[in-house]
Amino acid sequence: MKRIAVIPGDGIGTEVTTEAVKVLRALMDRRGLPLELVTFDWGAEKYLREGMSLPDGALEMLHREFQAILIGALGDPRVPSNQHAVDILLGIRFGLDLYVNQRPVKLLDARLCPLKDRSERDVNFVIFRENTEGLYVGVGGNFKRGTEDEVAVEEDLNTRRGVERILVYAFEYASSHGFKRLCMSDKSNAMPHAHGLWQRTFGEVRKRYPNVESRHLYVDTLAMELVRDPAQFDVIVTCNLFGDILSDLGAQFVGGLGLTPSANLHPGGVSLFEPVHGSAPALAGRNLANPLAAILAAGMMLENLGYPEAAGDIERIVTEAVRQDQTTPDLGGKLGTREVGDWICSRL
Ligand code: NAD
Ligand code: IPM
Ligand code: MN
Repeated sequence: MKRIAVIPGDGIGTEVTTEAVKVLRALMDRRGLPLELVTFDWGAEKYLREGMSLPDGALEMLHREFQAILIGALGDPRVPSNQHAVDILLGIRFGLDLYVNQRPVKLLDARLCPLKDRSERDVNFVIFRENTEGLYVGVGGNFKRGTEDEVAVEEDLNTRRGVERILVYAFEYASSHGFKRLCMSDKSNAMPHAHGLWQRTFGEVRKRYPNVESRHLYVDTLAMELVRDPAQFDVIVTCNLFGDILSDLGAQFVGGLGLTPSANLHPGGVSLFEPVHGSAPALAGRNLANPLAAILAAGMMLENLGYPEAAGDIERIVTEAVRQDQTTPDLGGKLGTREVGDWICSRL
């Protein structure tokens, strides 16, 4: 029995997670997958009500009792500091050392690509985002806060071990998935200390993978090249913040955030799966959110748990839904969140 912790979270996170869970339950029935889903009500409501974000002992419990975690989204306008999301989402990513954030950008239907004359073959790459370091570590502070002399510091923390392990993961992925080309992206021309480390580590790691065609682009150039010709990319590996930004850019190539899933991995450990998108407060509670990114994230989870056929079912049927306009309005369809989930289940 594989145990999955389900954290629907806030806003549309709860709605899209309901559909992902529906699809998982349908697959459990139809393919006999031995999964047990356990839901946790961690999120803004609980934080506002009880002052509790990530409960004490939660990380140990997740590590001990679960094989995977499925999250909807965290973020609520009533918590402007975003503290609960930092505690829960970043808390799990950092606390479980989920150093690989894998964010595939795969065009399922050429009609959804806003770039001119691009087909499904042209847009199919994976971003590997370092997920435990960089500008996300929360090291810093404010001095003379609230005065005209205020100073704000946010440290960009990069370790040799941290940089090397994400580079190695990306190279291993490229060589084992038949992807020939890998691009490492940083901003070492302006950030010589932090990103100089990325450059030097890349220089060493790439020598171990002569069969992978690897190159470097500064992140500004990469953003431009992605729009000019996305077909030149297979695997992109970069730091935490750049990976965050590039994954939303990539999402627009394939129809938007309603279609991009992600996996937060610690090889051999418990891993976390979620859509790339957030809680979209303006859409929340209106049955308008696209559940396909969350459903694809559940697919990535099944693949990772060792059920490639079930994962394949999900990708195939999501592609059908997109091609047959069985979608929410963001993709041009007329269905609601729930109806899209029902349609996917009916096709399983
Ligand atoms: P967002 O991803 O929530 O929304 C950005 C845009 O994409 C909005 O126009 C939204 O309507 C649209 N969108 C997003 N998901 C969609 C879906 N499934 N279907 C249709 N349209 C969709 O980003 P934001 O507005 O910058 O952030 C809102 C809140 O979510 C903030 O609190 C933010 O911190 C949080 N957030 C959380 C996560 C996460 O939990 N992983 C990720 C991103 C943002
Ligand atoms: C994401 C989100 C998060 C991030 C936020 C909510 C902290 O944007 O998962 O892409 O920046 O990692
Ligand atoms: Mn993001």
